[in-house]
Amino acid sequence: MEPEHLILLQKILVVLFCVALFWKIIKYMCGLLNIEKDPVTVLVTGQIGYALVPMIARGAMLGPDQPVILHMLDIEPAAEALKGVKMELIDAAFPLLRDVVATTDAVEACKGVNIAVMVGGFPRKEGMERKDVMSKNVSIYKAQASALEKHAAPDCKVLVVANPANTNALILKEFAPSIPEKNITCLTRLDHNRALGQISEKLNVHVSEVKNVIIWGNHFSTQYPDVNHATVKATNGGEKPVRELVANDNWLNTEFITTVQQRGAAIIKARKLSSALSAASAACDHIRDWVLGTPKGTWVSMGVYSDGSYGVQPGLIFSFPVTCEKGQWSIVQGLKIDEFSRGKMDATAKELVEEKSLAYSCLN
Ligand code: LMR
Repeated sequence: MEPEHLILLQKILVVLFCVALFWKIIKYMCGLLNIEKDPVTVLVTGQIGYALVPMIARGAMLGPDQPVILHMLDIEPAAEALKGVKMELIDAAFPLLRDVVATTDAVEACKGVNIAVMVGGFPRKEGMERKDVMSKNVSIYKAQASALEKHAAPDCKVLVVANPANTNALILKEFAPSIPEKNITCLTRLDHNRALGQISEKLNVHVSEVKNVIIWGNHFSTQYPDVNHATVKATNGGEKPVRELVANDNWLNTEFITTVQQRGAAIIKARKLSSALSAASAACDHIRDWVLGTPKGTWVSMGVYSDGSYGVQPGLIFSFPVTCEKGQWSIVQGLKIDEFSRGKMDATAKELVEEKSLAYSCLN
């Protein structure tokens, strides 16, 4: 290397070192002065909010140093119960909780919201057709989307949990056109976590040692839980493929898939109520990884707007493997898809196309 190049390199290194040092000093001083982050406003709609709001207020969603303001929205008949939840939140004296708004007014609820977790929706009741449920949800999501569109913060991130989650997210996108489509997602992390749980039970390893399962498609019984790229941490620090460790393709291609697909129904049967604790925890995981990033070498499943990756029709909200960085998700590209997986992915996409046309027929 020429001497002048060496001097230039030395100068660059000195400047970089000074910048890093300066940044560390600023962070240290902020710590000393106890300068805390601005609070983030999180909206939670609907009833499993009861399981979700304490997790948010404890920092499980946005981190242990992130103050939050909670907005809770519910329907008129639940107004009294909502007041009770607000009282409990105050009584819990959560250090990160800066304010609580409990309301039945969508406009008040959506004001200045940075993160919206849409848990409220109309559940299917006995004797109701799919189209009846869809048309109820279309009107709920139309009203809430318009309020978010007008009153939420411009960079608001939305997570739809209420079923049919993928299609409700699509309706919301339709009525909140100024929210970027990359900011509207639906929850399939619950299914992703269920798949991790099943593998961990089967192999008798800790769940944190299993990674990179994938949920493709709909958060519904056609979803495809895929372990073809999943691994388990090995004792030597490396990773071993789940398929090799389970060594039972028949189980992985049948019972494992149906167990994950039917887990929500099994919980409803056992509890006489749908999952709340695991759904709330998955909602926290989904937002935390989206905002704070996925660990290096790990992906998660999120229902996101399809750009045509893996041959999935663009314009569906479809669950893909994603990595997140600096508040943005990206679909993991280049994974090999075998014939069995292709068939399952096409089947769940077909169901979403049908749901989408049903939803649009309700809109019309
Ligand atoms: C779940 O997966 O637990 C729920 O989506 C099931 C349901 O229908 O509420």
